[in-house]
Amino acid sequence: MSNFDCKNKFKPDTEGTYIKSFKEYQSLHKKSIEDPQAFWYEKAHEFLNWDKSFTKVSSGNLKYGNVKYFEDGYLSVYQNCVLRHKEANPNGIALIYEADNPEEARSVTWLELSQQVQLYARVLKQMGVKKGDVVTIYMSTSPEAIYAMFACSYIGAVHSVIFGGFSSDAIKARVLDSKSEVIFTQNFTKRRGRTIPMKTTINKAIEGIDFVRKVLVYGRVKNIKEEINMKPNRDILLESLLEEFQEGGKYENVYANLQPMSMNAEDPLFLLYTSGSTGKPKALIHTTGGYLLNAALTHKTVFDIRKGDRFGCVADIGWITGHTYIVYAPMLNGVSTVLFESTPDYPSITRYWEVIDKWGLTQFYTSPTAVRFVMSCGTDPLKDFSLKSLRVIGSVGEPIGVEAWNWYFKNVGKSRCYLVDTYWMTESGAIMISAIPGATTLKRGSATLPLFGISPQLLVKNGGSKSIELSMQKKQRKFSEIAENDQSGILTIKGHWPSITRTILGNHKRYLETYLSPYPGYFLTGDSAYRDMDGYYFIKGRIDDVINVCAHRFGTSELESTLTLHPKAVEVAVVGMPHKIKGEAIFVFCVLKDKHTEEMVIKNELKSLLQTSISKIASPEHIVIVDSLPKTRSGKIMRRILKKIVRKNYEVATYGDLSTLLNPDSVDSIVSNVKKIL
Ligand code: WT7
Repeated sequence: MSNFDCKNKFKPDTEGTYIKSFKEYQSLHKKSIEDPQAFWYEKAHEFLNWDKSFTKVSSGNLKYGNVKYFEDGYLSVYQNCVLRHKEANPNGIALIYEADNPEEARSVTWLELSQQVQLYARVLKQMGVKKGDVVTIYMSTSPEAIYAMFACSYIGAVHSVIFGGFSSDAIKARVLDSKSEVIFTQNFTKRRGRTIPMKTTINKAIEGIDFVRKVLVYGRVKNIKEEINMKPNRDILLESLLEEFQEGGKYENVYANLQPMSMNAEDPLFLLYTSGSTGKPKALIHTTGGYLLNAALTHKTVFDIRKGDRFGCVADIGWITGHTYIVYAPMLNGVSTVLFESTPDYPSITRYWEVIDKWGLTQFYTSPTAVRFVMSCGTDPLKDFSLKSLRVIGSVGEPIGVEAWNWYFKNVGKSRCYLVDTYWMTESGAIMISAIPGATTLKRGSATLPLFGISPQLLVKNGGSKSIELSMQKKQRKFSEIAENDQSGILTIKGHWPSITRTILGNHKRYLETYLSPYPGYFLTGDSAYRDMDGYYFIKGRIDDVINVCAHRFGTSELESTLTLHPKAVEVAVVGMPHKIKGEAIFVFCVLKDKHTEEMVIKNELKSLLQTSISKIASPEHIVIVDSLPKTRSGKIMRRILKKIVRKNYEVATYGDLSTLLNPDSVDSIVSNVKKIL
């Protein structure tokens, strides 16, 4: 891997970056690991306002999974995220709403945000919601969803945001699991110009669930005649209720002086279900003080946040990326945040670039899938946009291959912005490994180095090879840390950090078994990584995605990133299929840039690419050209489905809930393609 020194091209203005140099990073990181009590004490006071300060920074351990941060401290989320900025800058822009239709775009000031959150909070209070109750939010990425989220913590309730594209079955499972009695939703949403029902989806989801007392319905799509079937006493139109709380309304004086809840630092702030792509959905719990602190600190550090910035994370609020880097971190740091409700190609393929130039965004944060998608449309759509306001561009969700990295850096970052490849997960609450603008020398394809409080360790099972294996049956095993560089291993984090998820709702045992017991003292990320000569981390992918061909192990992401080096391959997925002789064989699915390409030629080229770049043994058994790959809404390829298909399970009905996919239609056509060759 070649070094890529971006430091010289990146010119911080006179204010300078948050972390001024690599040296400063090193010494702060060292302090955060060696003296976490002092480090977090200082940061907790730098980033947060406390109603009552804490006397203890952290306690507990990974053995029992009873980690606590700032446990006797109290703080108000509303004061930290909204009120202090409203007081300092009432007319500044807090939210930038890029609705599906760009003509409906609007911004919301800090003053308006504070007023709306208070109104929404009074509504929740009126509905009898109490501290610790779970409130479900099934809405699109919009200001109203943000009001609902902040209204929850205003009264001490815990939000459970469900991605707006999920089906009634997926919602039902989550509402049942969280026992949520109150739901925020909207009548319809808009996606690529189409009107999509949300309220009727909720109706179906909660049919027969008697504990759901109230459904508050925001009229996102106006002037629409279609029926949404309001159930008397249970369902309430939000806008008319809100009006009653305003001047002249019948509840004008009810809860008018409702004060924001002072939360204990360890009170749950929200729960979030992991993608639900495997097994039963599990709700990860994040608590208030530690989560908020690390959200703010990582945001400031990684994106070099400065006063007046306009931060553009184009994810959906239904994911952890949305929670941390659309909502909590930008609001804590007092900068404008973008709520992007649309897709990169609606109304046209220039949408991202229009949004960046229109609002003068200073940071842009997206996923490798989105980068590959815009890349497949060429550079022509970019030609009318300067993108000159950008300083930092980011990537998250999966390894960003070298080709996409180069394209993103050159065409969006114009070879002058910092490109931060940020590695983290729902469980971590905030970024764990990432470059820091102005401090880190970038390397293509590497998430680079750990952030504060994060001590990554590569582990190896003792007794022979460095092979990476994950056997969930064996609860404990002998293992050791790999001390040297230029090695690969199981990626774990030693010890804890403030925003680590505290438990799985209602199943602490599963929490311990999944993350903490396999390697006592270490948090198991589920990924494997390579650490190069300079100590830089390269995330190789999920350990469960290793393919074993003739006793040789290949990470699917390693195979995939090699295949995407082919100029005609847009996207590739590799899965293992059972093979009588080899144990497992490699099955490749490939999406081509140009559908008219000669398939045989490409297949041969892809085959020799693997043979020459990786090994003869990595020669694929089958290559199938497909139109698109099944993906989760967060852009992850659903290898689980592909694995079933190559195992000749063609019963689509047994694949689980496909409505949670970005493109459920892709599955049928892949099945029929594979049937032809197996
Ligand atoms: C998994 C977590 C964190 C928000 C989005 C996904 C993969 C995430 C990277 C990256 C390589 C990455 C890992 C991780 N991942 N970021 N920069 N490079 N892989 O959250 O759904 O909880 O998924 O995403 O495999 O374990 P998530």
